[in-house]
Order: sequence, then C-alpha cells, then structure tokens
Amino acid sequence: MKKRKADALPHELRRSIDAARQELPIWAVRRAILEEVATSATLVLTGETGCGKTTQIPQFLLAAGYDARGIIAVTQPRRVAAMSVARRVAEEMAVEVGSRVGYSVRFDDCTSQATRIIYMTDGMLLRAAMQDPLLSRFSVLVVDEAHERSLQTDMILSIAKSVQAIRGGAHAAGGVGGAAVGSSAGALKLLVMSATLETDTFCEYFGCDRGPVQVQGRQHPVSLFYTSSPQDDYVEAAVTATLQLHMESLPGDILVFLTGQEDIEAAGHAIQQRAAVLPPEMDALEVHPLYAALPAPLQMAALDPPPAKTRKVILATNIAETSLTIEGVVYVIDAGLVKQRTYHPGKKIDSLLATPISKAAARQRAGRAGRQQPGECYRLYTEQTFRDLDATSRPEILRTSLASTILSLKALKVVDVLAFDFLSPPPRASIIAALEQLLALGALLPDGAISSEGEQMARLPLEPSYAKALLVAGEQGCCEQMLSLVAMLATDGSLFHSTSATRDAADDAKRRFTSPQGDTITMVNVFSSFGRKKGSTARAWCQKNFVNRRTVESAIQIRDQLRTSAIDLGLLKADDSFERDGGLAKSPVLDAAPVGNEMGRKLRRCLTAAFFMQAAQRQPNGEYLALSSRQVVSIHPSSVLFHRRATCVIFNELLFTSRLYMRDLTQIEADWLVELAPQYYASRSGLGSPG
Ligand code: CDP
Ligand code: MG
Repeated sequence: MKKRKADALPHELRRSIDAARQELPIWAVRRAILEEVATSATLVLTGETGCGKTTQIPQFLLAAGYDARGIIAVTQPRRVAAMSVARRVAEEMAVEVGSRVGYSVRFDDCTSQATRIIYMTDGMLLRAAMQDPLLSRFSVLVVDEAHERSLQTDMILSIAKSVQAIRGGAHAAGGVGGAAVGSSAGALKLLVMSATLETDTFCEYFGCDRGPVQVQGRQHPVSLFYTSSPQDDYVEAAVTATLQLHMESLPGDILVFLTGQEDIEAAGHAIQQRAAVLPPEMDALEVHPLYAALPAPLQMAALDPPPAKTRKVILATNIAETSLTIEGVVYVIDAGLVKQRTYHPGKKIDSLLATPISKAAARQRAGRAGRQQPGECYRLYTEQTFRDLDATSRPEILRTSLASTILSLKALKVVDVLAFDFLSPPPRASIIAALEQLLALGALLPDGAISSEGEQMARLPLEPSYAKALLVAGEQGCCEQMLSLVAMLATDGSLFHSTSATRDAADDAKRRFTSPQGDTITMVNVFSSFGRKKGSTARAWCQKNFVNRRTVESAIQIRDQLRTSAIDLGLLKADDSFERDGGLAKSPVLDAAPVGNEMGRKLRRCLTAAFFMQAAQRQPNGEYLALSSRQVVSIHPSSVLFHRRATCVIFNELLFTSRLYMRDLTQIEADWLVELAPQYYASRSGLGSPG
C-alpha cells in the first residue's frame, strides 16, 4: 500500500487537523483521564462513537510519557479499523504510518523499532501473549470496542487481569512510578474503552474503585422511521429505500446495514442497475461494499469522501456499527439483522445465521446518522419488532464453539481452562465439548496439555479443524491445493451467481468446474482456473463463468496470507518457488488443470481427517444422518452433490432454513472415518456399511 507522508500536507490543512482534534469531546476530560490512569491500574472509559477515544487516548498517553517503559498497544476487533485509525493518527502526528505510530494486523505488520503506539487486532495481541505471556513489551494496553464482547476481546481482558496480578498496575509507568512489582516489565496499565454499555460488567470484573469515566458525546438528533409491516425481503426493502432517499432527500451519504457479502452484493447490484436509469441531471450514486472479507484497499475506499455531485452509499455489515468513522453519513438504513456464529453444544455444530440485532445495536446504528448534523434512520422493521429485541447482544463467548478459544488458552499455558477467570464464563458443557473436539483432533494430549500439533494449530489463524486439514495436507504433500481449498471455504460469499434469467447459462458454465468429488474440490477447480487474472481479464473471465469475482479475489488474499503461515510452520518448504513481496509469500502459479482423481482422493482424505465430526451418511431410506449429532440433514440444492446420492459426505457448514441443509460438501468413503479418526469413530456404533 502506498504510504502518504503526512507532513507533506499543506500548512492550512495541518492547522485544521489540529483544531479539529482539540474540539473533540474527549479533550474536555483529558486531564481527568490522565490522573485516573496515573492512580489506578484499570480505567473504564465510555463515550459515543466519534468522541475521540480511539484516535486521541493513545496520543494523550504518549504525550504523558507512558511509552518510556514499553509500547502503547491499542486493540481493535477488526483489521480495517486498526489500519484506518493508525493512518489517521499518523496524519495527526505528522509522521508516517509505521514510524512512531503503526499497526499490526494478520500478516501485515506496519511497525518499526521507532513505533510507540501500535494499533493491533485482538488476534495479534493474543498471538503476542503466546510468545510473551507477561506482555512485557507493553506499558499500556488499551482494549477498544470492549462492548462488542468479541471472544478475543474477552480473552484479552482476562489475560490482562492475570498479567496485572503479576506485573502490578497501580503505579504510573513512564519512569514516574516506583519499582516494578514481581516483574522487570513494570506495571501494565489497562484502559477498557467501550461505546456506552456494559461498563458495570467491566468495572466489577476489574474491581475498579470508581465507576467509568464518561465522555459526553456530541450527537445530533436522529429521526427514526419504521416500516408499517414486517419485510420479507430486507435486501429489496433496502434497495428501494436507498433509491427513494436518493431521489427525494437533501444531500448526505447513506449507510445501509445488511448482514454479509451475499446480500451486500445483491443490493449493490440492484442499486446500480436502478440508478443507471435515473435522470442524468441528478447527482450520481456511488456504491461501496464494506465487510470484513473485502480486500483492505476496497474497505478503505468505502471511507473516502465521494467526488463532487455524488452521493455515496455504503452497504456494510455491523463492521460499520462502532469502530469506523465514516464522514458524511446523514441517512442510515437498518435491516435489523447481523450474521452471527451460533453454536449448539448438543449438536456440535456452528452455524452462521442472520439474527436480529439488539436494541443497543439498533440505537448505535441509528446514531451513525447524527454524527455531523441531524440525521434520519430508516429501520426496515416495525416499531413492535424493535420493542421485542433483546436489550444487548450476548457475548460471543457464550455462542461459539469455543474450540479456538480453548486451544488458544492452552497455547497460553492456561492449564485448567474450566477454572479460567472468564468475563462471562461459557457453559461448562461447551468447554468440555471443545476439549473433546481438540482431543479428537489431536490438538491436546490425553492429559489435557497442548500437543505439538496443537501448538502448530494455534499458530494458524484458522478454526482448529481447518488448521488440522492444512497440517495433514502438509504431511501428505498437497498443501498448495489445501491452501486453495481452505481459502475458498474461508470466504463468506457465494462462489457462483446467477439470476433466474441466466440460470441455464450459469449451470452450463458451472459444469465445467464441477467435480463429482464434491463442492470443495469444485472450488479448487474454480480457483486454479481463475489463476492470477487481473483487471479486465479477470472481469471477463468471471462474467463468462458466472463466478463471483469478489469471492475468488478474497480467497486469493486469504490464501496468500495462509501460505506465509504454512511456510513459517514448515508445512511448505521455503525453497518452493515463491517470492516475498511486502512480507507476503506470493503463491507460485498454480496448476490450472482440474483436480485429478488421485489428488482429489488425497485432499478428501485430508478433509476427512479434519472434519470427521461433520460427516453424514445416507440411510437406506435416502435420508442423510449426521453422524455426530444423529440428526437428519439434507444436501443443499446448490451443492454439486445434490443429484448424486453419495453414500458418505462431510460438510463444512449446516444451514438451517426450512430444514437442516449441509453446505460445501465433500464426498468421502465411510471407511476413511474409522481409518483416519479412529479415536472418534472406532467405538461408535451406527457407522454401518452404506445404505
Ligand atoms: O473512537 P471514537 O469513536 O470515540 O472516535 P475516533 O475514532 O477517535 O474519531 C474521532 C474523530 O476523528 C472522528 O469524529 C473523526 O472526525 C476523526 N477521524 C477521521 O477523520 N478519520 C479517521 N479514520 C478516524 C477518525
Ligand atoms: Mg473508536
């Protein structure tokens, strides 16, 4: 990415940045915050989005000398926030990103010896803690967006608490305080920053003497509008609302909250189509998607101001709820949904579902319209629906499979995870299920300690079963193909697209890639065939093949990143033909030929060794039975195996709509389950010969 030198800014702009900074509400409480930090170990701070928490607090701490004993670390739940905020702060400090201020996100480390403030993702801080359990490089840890209660944030808070117990926290850092307590690193100061809620939980957990410091926000009024009846098709409703606003309302950008890549793309498409036929004298409409899997430059583009005589529409997931500042938004359209991973311990599955947001999230979304002037928020649900929403959303730790969390804790050398001091302890049954899964995957030893394989898995930025698939593929010599496969599975969009008008042509195109071995192998075929096409060649190829370009492109990005980890772990040899480019190992040009039978078999066996808990077998009556949960499941109609009556399959995801659908399937042989996962299947009954 191109670095922009902030001190090249014109003088007037520089002055206006300084002035704007000091007008932020947070400046009013600057002294109070610094006094509080000096005297207590942990400070909980709340303030409306935009009041200056993320950009200003680290600069206050820097100016007060807190960097003398270590780096000031600021964690963010999302990559794009870490990067955009670091850039903003560098601009304010008139330095380059990567010098005094830097960021560190998965596979993109933009820091140097000189760096004193690091904006990092939660995941990066957890990784730092694995290497350095006392976090001794850091003098202050600022945990941002704590109200989101993401799994990783929760873990960081627990870790910080235990580090403080050893390193202390009560006396001032920066050379002001006394001798270090129990560690040469000196005290660790902790700042927990949050939008507005949940502060009691934090204060209680950390035993703060005083309540949270509250920053008064500057929020303009936002008028709320509801639909009169519930909407079946919120994408269509959002599209209509966007165009109506564009045609009838005063200037101001529109922020639309949808749930994921799929509906964002559908909406984007529809808006562009309908905007194309608007009268030419109207302002143009510029549509930007914004979701986590979107390549970073495109995410950043969504934050840039639009050209003159243009209205910007940002179609976002809840990524835009609190952590990003998007200037110019006056209108918010809220579908009222969020895609959430939800885990059912009994069923041993994770499913990704669009679920209603909480009241708190709905208010937060509406608030995004009132940042600079009075705004309007259009809720695509009824007022009654709003009243029925939960007050706040459940912490992620209470609704995920926990396997990665527990593995991370084990890698952090937490011996008794059942006794771990969680902010919100997950149900015991979920912890035990996670331990069982990790044991079955070979990530833990029978005595519960992490195995060396588990340590490797913990170092891969993937769910344990995906990590396992890569490790096994490394042993089997099909790591390159598995990287493509896992990268494709890790994207959250659909691979093929079609409308009712183009369905036949799309099916024909799809057939060229289709492998009877399953959707996963089909994905590898698409990926290899796409290769590294760029620009118009890529566009033309995707159009011709009805392939979703964004999905393939984000897979390429994920793959490049994963490949670097795979090399670090020794799964791939570093002398394989790759070049280092900006820290990323570029994949060699892949074999564009479809996966052959032998390679396919290898890959499928690797998948079996990793996803054996997600296997289903066809019964004599034609139904499929999920082997670990004993539930009846069906093959999703979009699967290449839909008409193929495979006897035994593994699935990547269960989707609950009218029934439980398996998605992203791989055809396997039932014998492999016992062979490759004996610890799990050998003792199981019911894995009979094919029905
Ligand atoms: O963290 P919080 O939501 O309290 O605010 P912030 O992210 O520190 O942003 C404070 C102000 O800085 C915003 O109101 C924007 O005016 C400005 N800002 C910006 O212009 N560009 C960014 N990338 C981030 C912030
Ligand atoms: Mg912030």
